[in-house]
Amino acid sequence: MTRPSLNVLDLFCGCGGLSKGFEEAGYNILIGIDFEQSALNTFNHNHKTARGVRLDLSKPESFDEIDTLLAGRKLDVIIGGPPCQGFSLTGPRKFDDERNKLYLAMIETVRRYRPKAFLIENVPGMANLYKGAVRDEIIRRFSEIGYNVTYKIVCAADYGVPQIRKRLVFVGIHSEKDKYVFPEPYLSENDYITCEQAISDLPSLETTLGEEISVYECEPQNKFQRLMRSSSTTLHNHTAINHKPFVKEVIALVPDGGNYKDLPPGVGESRVFHMAWTRLNSKKPARTVDTGHRNLFHYKWNRCPTVRESARIQTFPDDFVFLGNRGQQNKQVGNAVPVLMAKALATQLLKYL
Ligand SMILES: C[S@@+](CC[C@H](N)C(=O)[O-])C[C@H]1O[C@@H](n2cnc3c(N)ncnc32)[C@H](O)[C@@H]1O
Repeated sequence: MTRPSLNVLDLFCGCGGLSKGFEEAGYNILIGIDFEQSALNTFNHNHKTARGVRLDLSKPESFDEIDTLLAGRKLDVIIGGPPCQGFSLTGPRKFDDERNKLYLAMIETVRRYRPKAFLIENVPGMANLYKGAVRDEIIRRFSEIGYNVTYKIVCAADYGVPQIRKRLVFVGIHSEKDKYVFPEPYLSENDYITCEQAISDLPSLETTLGEEISVYECEPQNKFQRLMRSSSTTLHNHTAINHKPFVKEVIALVPDGGNYKDLPPGVGESRVFHMAWTRLNSKKPARTVDTGHRNLFHYKWNRCPTVRESARIQTFPDDFVFLGNRGQQNKQVGNAVPVLMAKALATQLLKYL
């Protein structure tokens, strides 16, 4: 099959999880825009044919910059995950509020370039914000400029991601009759990829805390691990945090899949919120990977997952290298759209283009 040459612009691209999924589905990522330099360094390192550019999308002049970057090239798809902190709807038609301008950036670029389709990813809470009024206003805005919009809260685990991560996704098709139908789950709950299946082949780092380990110590143990390692002979971003002794002692008392409720009275009481001292469950997918809050531990070893282990749970292949310091790397991984979920959505979208 010949690969379609569909040009994509990724707004709020971060390190490029969403872009990577589209790329794996055969799209051509032209440009990624973000204002965080370390994420862009990772984006540029891993998306060789694309160009990640630093622009503030809350500034109107950034759209003229995008015009210059495109240099007349046609855009087929615009994708993006605008942050929606502080999102506000203060009354009918008050969507134009300052605080919503990052969302408006998506609408503005779609209006300017009239791509064949767009895809927006967001947190699930967005669906019911202001009793659904925000969601409806987004749909109305895009409908006004000729897009048929569908939305759904999708779960990454359904598409082969070892993680229960739910996200609200809008897809608009520039058509009067075509409406995007979300892909059916690839896996049923009983077949979800587990944490153990995802990361059991990665070195334990029990005796090499703080050192970056670049050598695999065993063969891939299953299909998922073979897929993640298919283009990689060397490990990257696999360094263990050297926790304080008391942290290791406390976590050693938590069983696989357990949390603070499994601790004896008087132990670990410095952290008592509902997700404190949680270990991954080796027999289940992970809960949503965060941006590195150090409250989640390996199912077997007495430490947090490494950046590589979290990246595996986000289905970044092992040859996708994260740049920046550890905090920046964790943020890039935690912010990303899981690659295999993005690929499933992008593959389905090909049917409409
Ligand atoms: C949820 S993350 C996007 C993740 C990305 N879609 C992925 O799959 O890897 C949101 C991104 O928006 C960027 N961002 C926030 N405000 C911005 C602004 N005003 N202009 C440009 N980028 C911004 C952040 O730096 C962050 O990388």
